[in-house]
Parts: sequence; structure tokens; C-alpha cells
Amino acid sequence: MRALIAGNWKMHGLAAFRSEVAALAAKMAASAPADCDVLICPPATLVAAFAKEFSGTAIQFGGQDCHADPSGAHTGDISAEMFADAGAGLVIVGHSERRADHNESDADVLSKTKAVLRAGLTPIICVGESEAERKAGKALDIVGGQLERSLPETSDDFVVAYEPVWAIGTGLTPTLADIAEMHAFIRSKTRSDVRILYGGSVKPGNAQDILAIDNVNGALVGGASLKAGDFYPIVMAAGGKQ
Ligand code: PGA
Repeated sequence: MRALIAGNWKMHGLAAFRSEVAALAAKMAASAPADCDVLICPPATLVAAFAKEFSGTAIQFGGQDCHADPSGAHTGDISAEMFADAGAGLVIVGHSERRADHNESDADVLSKTKAVLRAGLTPIICVGESEAERKAGKALDIVGGQLERSLPETSDDFVVAYEPVWAIGTGLTPTLADIAEMHAFIRSKTRSDVRILYGGSVKPGNAQDILAIDNVNGALVGGASLKAGDFYPIVMAAGGKQ
């Protein structure tokens, strides 16, 4: 299985950030793992320009969220079809910041997942427990429920990202054993060719250990994806990952 290293820029990035993408593309052209896909999900304003400028490189681009409908009276929203039109290949859905900031439910996440598939793109479906849920020993139950309610029944063309909410942007990560346990659990609920990413404070310093874990098929990277100097070593850490 090819690894997927995905960068989620969140609400960071102006047109000038193209220089970071150019630097990453240059590094990857010089040396990159053959068995790894690399994705950047910049703010929606940059997807079309980046997809066009970097179309000849090994970097793909994606959206961070989408509306469930293909078009309509939804001021400010962006449909999956619009991301496809802009040159995106994948769209993140259900990120914990969307769930928290916009009250997105698992049902919303399922609708968005179906929208991404309808547009011919691949959804990256995010799941993960809060700190309180982990401390209460409920992490597997919570993630199991999220998967049950947000994975599509009619397609296996999706990626799952396990992102413990308490590990996002905090510098904290679960133990390698806890990541292994959760990824084995998610694998038991998905087909063997579905890629399962780990996300939450992935950095150049911990990427190799995390990516070496069974059933970790890549990473969803926030802060460390903004600079080519941080993101490239994470891409390289995926080299040789089966
Ligand atoms: P982080 O974010 O790498 O900055 O913790 C990960 C994410 O939110 O996808």
C-alpha cells in the first residue's frame, strides 16, 4: 500500500506561500520515496492556483472541508465539485476543528463524505477522541461510533485519519502502543486497502517512529506542513513504509 503524507494548512497561507510548495517540490524532485503520495490542503483560495502551477510535480492538492450539496444558496460555502473543478484530488471531512467550530455531527460528516465521492474525489474522514474520553478509557468506543456513523456503505475509496483531539497542535502524542491499538481497531472496521493516517503533533522528530507502526499508512500533518523544511523530512520518513 502506498503511504499518504497529507498537510493540512488550516487557516494559514497567502499566495506568497507558493515558495514553500516550490521548495518542497524541488526537494522531492531531487529525492523522494517512490511509494508515498504527498498532499497539501491549503486554504481554498489557493487550491486552483497551486494545482495549476505545480501540476507537473509529485504534490497533489486538496480541500479542508466542503458543503454536502453540489451547488445552491449557501453563501460562503464550497462544494466538492468546486474542489474537483479547481484541481483537487482529495478533501478532508470531519476535522475536529470543524466539528468543534461548526458543530458538525457524524451525520454531517457522512453527508460530506458522500459529496466528495459524488464529485469523484477521495475523502479523508477524520475521527478521534477528546482527552476526557481517552482518560475515561472510552477512546475505542468513541472512535468506533464515529466510524459507524460516518463511513460510507457503498464505497471503500476513502482514507481514515485518526486524530486524537488532545494531540492536535499541542505537541502531545499518544504512546506508540496506543496508536497501534487504535489503528488495529480501525483496521478491523475497514477493508485492508483503506489507508489509515495518524494525525496530531506529527513532527520530523517523531514521524519515523509513528510511521513504522502497523496499520499506520501515513500522516495528517498540521503545523509541520507549513514549511518545506519540516514537511519534507516527514515525507522522507514514509519511505519504505508498506
Ligand atoms: P498538528 O495538526 O499537526 O498541528 O497537530 C494536525 C491536524 O489538525 O490535522
